[in-house]
Amino acid sequence: VIEVHEIVVKRLGPVPIIKGDFHYLPKKAKKFIAKWVSIMKPRCLYLCDGSQSEADEIIQKLTERGTLTKLPKYENCYLCRTDPADVARVESKTWIVSQEMYDTVPHLKGGVKGIMGQWMSPQRMQEQMDLRFPGCMSGRTMFVIPFSMGPIGSPLSKVAIQLTDSNYVLLCMRIMTRVSHEVYDVLGDNDFVQCIHSVGLPRPVQRKTINHWPCNPEKIMIAHFPEERRICSFGSGYGGNSLLGKKCFALRIASVIARDEGWLAEHMLLMSIIEPSGRETFVAAAFPSACGKTNLAMLQPTLPGYKTLCVGDDIAWMRFFEDGSLRGINPESGFFGVAPGTNYETNPNAMKTFQKNSIFTNVAETADGGYYWEGMENEVDKTIAITTWLGQPWRIGMPGKSSHPNSRFTAPAGQCPIIHPKWEDPNGVPVSAIIFGGRRPTGVPLVFETFSWEHGIAVGACVKSEATAAAEHSGKQIMHDPMAMRPFMGYNFGHYLKHWLELNRPPHKCPKIFHVNWFRLDDHGEFLWPGFGENIRVLDWIIRRVHGEKDLGVENAIGIVPRKDKFRLDGLKHPIDWDHLFSLPKNYWLDDTTDSRHFLEDMVGNDVPQVIWDELAAQEKRITAL
Ligand code: GDP
Ligand code: PGA
Ligand code: MN
Ligand code: MN
Repeated sequence: VIEVHEIVVKRLGPVPIIKGDFHYLPKKAKKFIAKWVSIMKPRCLYLCDGSQSEADEIIQKLTERGTLTKLPKYENCYLCRTDPADVARVESKTWIVSQEMYDTVPHLKGGVKGIMGQWMSPQRMQEQMDLRFPGCMSGRTMFVIPFSMGPIGSPLSKVAIQLTDSNYVLLCMRIMTRVSHEVYDVLGDNDFVQCIHSVGLPRPVQRKTINHWPCNPEKIMIAHFPEERRICSFGSGYGGNSLLGKKCFALRIASVIARDEGWLAEHMLLMSIIEPSGRETFVAAAFPSACGKTNLAMLQPTLPGYKTLCVGDDIAWMRFFEDGSLRGINPESGFFGVAPGTNYETNPNAMKTFQKNSIFTNVAETADGGYYWEGMENEVDKTIAITTWLGQPWRIGMPGKSSHPNSRFTAPAGQCPIIHPKWEDPNGVPVSAIIFGGRRPTGVPLVFETFSWEHGIAVGACVKSEATAAAEHSGKQIMHDPMAMRPFMGYNFGHYLKHWLELNRPPHKCPKIFHVNWFRLDDHGEFLWPGFGENIRVLDWIIRRVHGEKDLGVENAIGIVPRKDKFRLDGLKHPIDWDHLFSLPKNYWLDDTTDSRHFLEDMVGNDVPQVIWDELAAQEKRITAL
């Protein structure tokens, strides 16, 4: 009989451990590490413990090498410029691997290319892995990162270990997740989510490194194995592809765990609104990437006497408790926010959050050691010399952009001035409303309430949005993004809809479901609604509906819209075109419903629950009668 420990030591072979004590780790962690060391063949092993000295050491190395530039205008803030070929999530190279194709994607008609997740068989994926992972960490350090999604030890939290050869990834993981040695204590002999990440550029490098940012764009592959609770990501260092706790684990893998365990892992912000009376109401909102979650979560209300608090800005894990309430946590511990458009006018709370201990990726730099991006024109000296994200000299007013449209800040959530005192409560916060939305330049009103849980899910399944820079899609095309989860589904979308529908059972008190659109344009292409802090007016109407205030709305074909006299318009800086903002062009909606029907027929087919078809048919009938 060979002891597991012996196998482990043999596999580790002569790989030196430059930090940490391997013997302290739980047995399953040792086996996991040893297996991947023998495949990826790193030069040495660095066992992370989450301490500050660890961060200081890595930051010093990265600034010396030039991967990070210190921004002396702030405290402990750094700029990182990536290889310009590695700037966003790569949906076309993202796969879900399961034994049965049908577990991952619905049965599609011949010739139809599905967009609700890409499936690959375990056998084919193994071939693809064999072309990438063997020896991929040659000459590099492998960091072992134990982390928790959610407060360490909370019943709603989950632990994982990420292996990576990128120290930038380690620094960001330390902000976005809870990296700590304590994770091993929670782990004990239990299984954990296995996260394997490599930039895919072993030494000596075969490809020229740009900006000291090793990556391998031609070979990017982000593979998820929900059945094994494993993620293997290769070739990219960009956040959404490399911080595996975020999209890969907290959404794609967690959505599968959530289905199995009866809860929800969603692409949603969590926040509370406190009215002048002191009443506090929590809401969750799902918008596609770069459609306003972070801004709403940190909203600075323009209505006097109102306060909002932020629990999370991107991902919510929610479950019904025995008393019937839906409660949610933010599994993350940081914000990975879109930089352009962020300023002291639109999002002062974000600005205050990232004045220290933050990392800025692919933004521009001012001559006085500050960050800069589109939207900051009024907040810096207009003549100051700027270096663009591509390293070119630039000034405000010159053609071109200073920053990549998907440039990001990475900042600790605890630094947000309006972070909710309960944001780390192990029992989460009670969610009273769910809001869907997207970027809809035409046709879609500012806000409407759906008629029921089932109608709300049908509306969620038909969410669409203009494409943004968060992934590789280009142009202004309107894309389907059901439940704002299209890029993040871990299993068959039809089964996912069924899972949502089945939650409406005693003793569950299902929240009301709403839809919002901050992005409707007037005939000159200007926004009809001022947005940002003014969105409090929409939230105010929503929570008064939630609390059952009478006569607030009128029914129309798609839901319940506000009565103009019951919606707070007082004090708006500019008059708004209410009629345009809430108009319901009949032909537009007929086309829209037909389009949604075709989408569901093509992409989800027989797996669309009958209830959803019934809701669509009823809606079509109401629209036809307009
Ligand atoms: P997220 O990726 O869903 O978190 O979206 P963000 O909150 O980061 O916003 C993405 C982009 O949309 C940024 O450039 C924002 O300035 C812009 N944005 C956010 N909220 C609003 C709004 O209410 N109105 C308008 N016009 N733009 C907004
Ligand atoms: P976002 O998060 O939703 O804030 O854009 C990143 C992403 O979805 O890629
Ligand atoms: Mn997101
Ligand atoms: Mn965001």
